[in-house]
Amino acid sequence: MRAKEGSSKVGKFLAHAALSTGVAFLISGLVTRDVGSAARVRSAGQGSDTQDAQDPGVRTGSSAGSPLATLSGDQLQFFQDGQSRFVEVDSVSGTAPAESGTGLGPTFNSNSCGSCHAQPAIGGTSPSVNPQIAAASDYGATNAVPSFVTADGPVREARFPFLLNADGSLSRTRDGGVHDLFTIAGRSDAPNCGMEQPNFALMQQLDNLIFRIPTPVFGAGLIENISEATIYANMASNATLKQSLGISGHPNLSGNDGTITRFGWKAQNKSLEVFAGEAYNVEMGVTNELFPEERSRPPTSCLFNPTPEDSTNFPASGSAIPSDVAAFSNFMRFLAPPSPSATGIPGNPSAQSIANGRALFSRIRCDLCHTPALQTAPSSFTPALSNQNAALLSDLLVHHMGSGLADNVSQGAAGPDEFRTAPLWGLGQRLFFLHDGRATPANGGLVTAIRAHSSPGSEATGVINLFQQLSKQQKQDLLNFLRSL
Ligand code: HEC
Ligand code: HEC
Repeated sequence: MRAKEGSSKVGKFLAHAALSTGVAFLISGLVTRDVGSAARVRSAGQGSDTQDAQDPGVRTGSSAGSPLATLSGDQLQFFQDGQSRFVEVDSVSGTAPAESGTGLGPTFNSNSCGSCHAQPAIGGTSPSVNPQIAAASDYGATNAVPSFVTADGPVREARFPFLLNADGSLSRTRDGGVHDLFTIAGRSDAPNCGMEQPNFALMQQLDNLIFRIPTPVFGAGLIENISEATIYANMASNATLKQSLGISGHPNLSGNDGTITRFGWKAQNKSLEVFAGEAYNVEMGVTNELFPEERSRPPTSCLFNPTPEDSTNFPASGSAIPSDVAAFSNFMRFLAPPSPSATGIPGNPSAQSIANGRALFSRIRCDLCHTPALQTAPSSFTPALSNQNAALLSDLLVHHMGSGLADNVSQGAAGPDEFRTAPLWGLGQRLFFLHDGRATPANGGLVTAIRAHSSPGSEATGVINLFQQLSKQQKQDLLNFLRSL
């Protein structure tokens, strides 16, 4: 699906509607009042007046990938063991050279967790070189690379919003599931496996194809440990302001135990262990204790291993005992959150510019969805997860984001145009933005991501109008701030 531009007509209408309320008038007054003071501050990113403010680009330096500071010796060992399993490459039965993990396929999107979660460190997001190109033909596999997967584009997985009718036409019955890009057919370790890839070109023609890119897992243990009470209290805060700007939002809920789910683009998953189990099966085709069945009804010619392919290692000792799924969870849970930094941002913006940007982020009310910090609950794991101010910049709620971002996929209580407020910590070192990776270094990056918030039906349109009213220098300050995260 192609990125759609937001309708400026609707945007203007909403801005007008927002300005007619007292509170929004106050906000807009604050924005206007700030123009003078911000204009006096010289900072990086200033270009000629004919140019727009620009995404400075990816910040250099390392600010993510370390373990939490308070882990015990045992916990650190489990973290390191989990990390090495996270980057282990899987082959069909663990026999391919340098691919010692077992269980790849029959269908898959890539062959290690770490291949997709790589930037700027293990556990992150899409790297600058897409690993899916190499995975497609690895070890003799005969996959075609779909048009939407490119060498310098984001890692992508595909979903089909609707099912096809028997005659091949599009139905209105929801599918919504992930259809893996590749199969193991042709690989030397999958002799005689015959299985075709889905027809992505046809789905693209029918406009029945949407994408998701990887989300980072730094600080994931903190996200896991924010209590429902905290999320609901934050949701109820600033009610009048939110209402005046058209912002609501609600949690996604587990169909199993009714509690708030929080991981993934639609906040569709409950915990790191559930996500790890699902990802192992969905992204890599590895059956496990949580998801024991192979997906996509493969022919028996493509089944090579007893199931589950990953399980508890009974004869082992210490950190080697848990299944890969449990080991991945320990690694992710114990990853420290990314640390912000004012240095290494291309163009070397001043500390003042970044401080101005931080203030503007709140003044134009990006913070009504991107909540700067939420408190974690007491944790039985380690003090670094207990009673912490997690600066994730998300309310962990799902919001209507309008027709421009809608993907026509429903997951739990998250409807066709609803998405979790993307946590913005670590943003400074990410290459690709939004659920389908439509905002890239080649097309404006952060600026494109911000503008895409505004389209008919989006709760963010009022705030994006306030963004558009900022001076060029103020916009630049805001972008510089985002790259310091
Ligand atoms: C083919 C690339 C790919 C591989 C391989 C992959 N992931 Fe992911 N990961 C994704 C995508 C795409 C998403 C977002 C999915 C969504 O929300 O629909 C994601 C999201 C996640 C999240 C949610 C984080 C958050 O806060 O939203 C976790 C946890 C995760 N992956 C863990 C893993 C683990 C563990 C593995 C290995 C078993 C793994 N992933 C393998 C692409 C991948
Ligand atoms: C109504 C709630 C809401 C408001 C207001 C809002 N956002 Fe967002 N933001 C979201 C959601 C939801 C997403 C994920 C959308 C998607 O991927 O389709 C997102 C995504 C982003 C992303 C991309 C992050 C990523 O991981 O790809 C950036 C950057 C961002 N927002 C910045 C801002 C800024 C700056 C503002 C203020 C000008 C703002 N947002 C206002 C809800 C909001």
